[in-house]
Amino acid sequence: MSDNERVALAFSGGLDTTVCVPLLKEEYGYDEVIGVTVDVGQPEAEFAEAEETAEALNLEHYVVDAKDEFADLCFDAVRANASYQGYPLGTALARPVIATAILEVAEEQGCTGLAHGCTGKGNDQLRFEAVWRDSDMEVIAPVRELGLTREFEQEYAAERDLPVEGGDEGKYSIDTNLWSRSIEGSELEEPSYVPPEDIYEWTTAPTGETRELEIGFENGYPVSLDGEAMEPVELTQTLNDLAGDYGVGRSDIMEDRMLGLKVRENYEHPAATVLLNAHQALEDLVLTKEERSFKKQIDHEWSEKGYQGLVNAPLVGALEGFIEETQTRVTGSVTIRLEGGQARPVGRSSQFAVYSAEAASFNTEDVIGGIEQDDATGVAKYHGFQERLANRVIDSQKEE
Ligand code: ARG
Repeated sequence: MSDNERVALAFSGGLDTTVCVPLLKEEYGYDEVIGVTVDVGQPEAEFAEAEETAEALNLEHYVVDAKDEFADLCFDAVRANASYQGYPLGTALARPVIATAILEVAEEQGCTGLAHGCTGKGNDQLRFEAVWRDSDMEVIAPVRELGLTREFEQEYAAERDLPVEGGDEGKYSIDTNLWSRSIEGSELEEPSYVPPEDIYEWTTAPTGETRELEIGFENGYPVSLDGEAMEPVELTQTLNDLAGDYGVGRSDIMEDRMLGLKVRENYEHPAATVLLNAHQALEDLVLTKEERSFKKQIDHEWSEKGYQGLVNAPLVGALEGFIEETQTRVTGSVTIRLEGGQARPVGRSSQFAVYSAEAASFNTEDVIGGIEQDDATGVAKYHGFQERLANRVIDSQKEE
């Protein structure tokens, strides 16, 4: 390796990424490590921690704000009603955004390597590397490649006096961004263990209180709250606060990871739940039956690619062609009632509603397209015709 080889590390200031800093020099021969923290809407305290740890480590540290790009991707996910096994994909969608931002810093800073602190069991290693392996840089995953355990990391940090606050970051492994907060580890791994209330930070246990709010959509994108226009980041943050107070957006699921592991996962995602429910309600009003049913398959495929961290796949572009075509009519508004931990659509309106009062009502002589009530007689005669024919054949064979 030539002089002054630099490596860019995805840096959070937590135990995993902190021990990676000396390891990248000692075990991988790099001269300089730079730490990059990408802002996808983590709480302020996480940046403070990253900043402090970087200082104590004497680490050259960069913070990149990618909140807008990330929120835009989350809103693309809304148009695709995206969810994987009940999880609205916060961590999964954030990874390609983070990986891309780190790659850009690495290029600007003349790095020849890229490193992350993910383990070999999770999904995040795959999502990061799917982006990074398109570059010519060396991709390094010290925790996975050196087979590090938490105990080893704690001892290593203690020996070297690394700034990890006793090496303990709390009981659970938590990943937070604008779209969701995941809580993993410790007793929560056991599927039968009932999570205590204190794992939740964004949501309070539902009370009897209710509240209604109106979400406006344009071309399938959420654009306003109670008539006030808002940008994606602000709308998401506002709804996380607002709906979180009504206990909306908790999920406790069994999740099938990409490598085949089945794991218990807990999440909080109040804004995602409100926006996904509202969007679905508006589609139900404006799309035809066939569009609704076919779009479920499109949405499913989008969600799979989203979970894999492969939102740049050509397939996603093709799926979005269909999505774009349908979303031109997903303009209007939806009233959501926050109640008992649910965000339930209780009203919807759109200039593109397929619903017609005249057509649906029994109390009108008005006809649409020249159709009168009696025209259904012929349809009613034919309905079930083939089934009746088939059943006659079956019955006559039974008699033989
Ligand atoms: N299971 C979720 C996913 O794969 C959440 C992962 C949380 N990641 C983390 N580094 N704590 O998207």
